[in-house]
Amino acid sequence: MTGDPLILGLETSCDETAAAVVRGRDVLSSVLASQVEMHARFGGVVPEVAARAHVEAIRGLTHRALRDAGVHPVDLDAVAATRGPGLAGALMVGFAYGKTLAWALAKPFLGVDHMEGHLFAPLLEHADYCPPAVVVLASGGHSQIVHMRDWGDYETLGSTIDDAAGEAFDKLARFLGLGFPGGPAIDGGSEGGDPNAVAFPRALADRPYDFSFSGLKTAVTTFVRRAHEEGTLPPMPDLCASVQEAIVDVLVDKTFNAVEATGAPAVAGGGGVLANRRLREKLEAEAARRGVAVFLPSPSMCTDNGAMIAAAAAFHYGRGERTAPDAEIDSSLRLG
Ligand code: KG4
Ligand code: ZN
Repeated sequence: MTGDPLILGLETSCDETAAAVVRGRDVLSSVLASQVEMHARFGGVVPEVAARAHVEAIRGLTHRALRDAGVHPVDLDAVAATRGPGLAGALMVGFAYGKTLAWALAKPFLGVDHMEGHLFAPLLEHADYCPPAVVVLASGGHSQIVHMRDWGDYETLGSTIDDAAGEAFDKLARFLGLGFPGGPAIDGGSEGGDPNAVAFPRALADRPYDFSFSGLKTAVTTFVRRAHEEGTLPPMPDLCASVQEAIVDVLVDKTFNAVEATGAPAVAGGGGVLANRRLREKLEAEAARRGVAVFLPSPSMCTDNGAMIAAAAAFHYGRGERTAPDAEIDSSLRLG
């Protein structure tokens, strides 16, 4: 699609430095420097360590994205970077670098909402993804159910009242001694396990779109401590599958509550948690049962990447929007 803008997207909101060059739905390059190993020994993301690692990686990674795409910087139509939400020190690195690069190239700059990036990610792989749709966004820091009435017109119907879904995976995996990040560890650890082995609670049944995971955390820790003492601890795959099932069921239920209420003909998803195999399976099965279309990014497009930032930026670029050179990051930016 040659009429589409050629955009460099930068993402540094958490623990991945990412850069991509995108034209329309074509991802010409998408590169990533993961800090997972740096943070793993602390059992979670250390903001200061993250910011420093972004500083070290951003320049080389940007060059690699441009080189892999075969694009000279002067040919770009715009530069985009995540503006928020995220860790302030981490956001500042990509945002300041992107703004400066755009200024040096005399190109427009666009600051992008990270969650809107996740919301746009399915578009890169599904040509027919379009509003209206219910979008379930679940990452390490945020979980929300969004009614996308149109591109750029979002209503957040519900969100977590305590931990984000990814945070619940991360904390529970740490408690179970499975390491960091917890989502992939529990996903992998659940292989061959029985999801009904332990009936953990599904919270906030009385609120159609909101979720809460702190009660689950208490239930799991209490159960495991008691079972351990009594010598009745189930095998780890059963435990992982049961924990995973409790989180997944809540996300799926609330998503389809929103589908019912809005009458949306499609469901989409984004954010690292959407890489979860069981969640994908259940969303797809329920959508098929109801005759609703489903648009999920491939797992590597669910987790943080620069292409989704470029995709969201392309929409705003097309509307003539630009971010002012004196704009700042907004670590608590909220979608809808
Ligand atoms: O969107 P993301 O890459 O970064 C943030 O914006 O936070 O999401 C990261 C979160 C982490 O909490 C991680 O444990 C979770 O996504 N995650 C998963 C899986 N892969 C990553 N959760 C469940 N199952 C997975 N396979
Ligand atoms: Zn994310």
